[in-house]
Amino acid sequence: MRRRRESSVEIKTPGQLALMREAGLVVARMLRQVAAAVELGISTAELDAIAEREIRDAGAQSSFKGYHGYPATICTSINDQIVHGIPRDDATLAAGDVISIDAGAIVGGWHGDAAVTVTVGPVPDQVTALLQACERALWHGLATAVAGRRLSDISHAIETSARASGSYRLVQEYTGHGIGSQMHMHPPVPNYGKPGRGPLLAEGMALAIEPMLVLGRRQTRLLDDGWTVVTADGSLAAHFEHTVAITADGPWVLTAIDGGTSGFSQSGVGIEQVAGFAPDSEDGLRQPARESADAGHGPARESSDAGHEPAGTRLSG
Ligand code: MF3
Ligand code: CO
Repeated sequence: MRRRRESSVEIKTPGQLALMREAGLVVARMLRQVAAAVELGISTAELDAIAEREIRDAGAQSSFKGYHGYPATICTSINDQIVHGIPRDDATLAAGDVISIDAGAIVGGWHGDAAVTVTVGPVPDQVTALLQACERALWHGLATAVAGRRLSDISHAIETSARASGSYRLVQEYTGHGIGSQMHMHPPVPNYGKPGRGPLLAEGMALAIEPMLVLGRRQTRLLDDGWTVVTADGSLAAHFEHTVAITADGPWVLTAIDGGTSGFSQSGVGIEQVAGFAPDSEDGLRQPARESADAGHGPARESSDAGHEPAGTRLSG
């Protein structure tokens, strides 16, 4: 059987990754719906209700609701709130606000987790640039989720990208995380650090990568509600997140409708940097190209028994 050391990283079978992809697509559609509903005067409780309806209609469950008592389907973090803001009736959006929407879904016991930051109408160029820098840093991290690299190569790629974008600070007190049969799993994925350290990345691992960039100082403070994390100096924060699987075909962004294709190209992350990256099919339901073109080199993801393989036996150890 699979060894389950405290420090081991969960390895998913192709069948399990297929469920994570379903969860990821539910998250992607939820975020698209909620982001489209963002407008002047809407409350974050109303945004939460939209998310709740969407996730129920999809036949999925929220990863967040009930997690250590968390009371809502999504997190809505406005302006100096960095992450884990709780939706409220009396939190209504104003012109120029910046809001991070974070959502997680469970399908068949497997999780997907992603976040976007959007604005309420026009914002100063400096704010647009902060958001772009954060999203670009995320995609550089995702592009580094490649078998054979080390975990901290991802952290380093995020930090390097963020620093190249301008004089932003990266939040250090919160990190990304392993994800799969639970939302928060080993290993933590810091958004900064030296390359070449930490666990070796392997096919079948999945990570939630989530840089948080701020305009001021990087120190955080937890509000009295026990959840909402804000910048200690009140400066503006941005937060973007995706769940990515490490596959033989390169990073598979499970929470992006197209599996990551457009995100990598729009963020200037060359597809050639992504080992063997195979673009998704249009319906977003990629099964990596391997089984058609190259079946001899790895397990076929769509083989009829893909879901029946015992958990983790193929790649553990
Ligand atoms: N994406 C967030 C995170 O990984 C989700 C937090 S959910 C909550 O921290 F339930 F803890 F709020
Ligand atoms: Co997360």
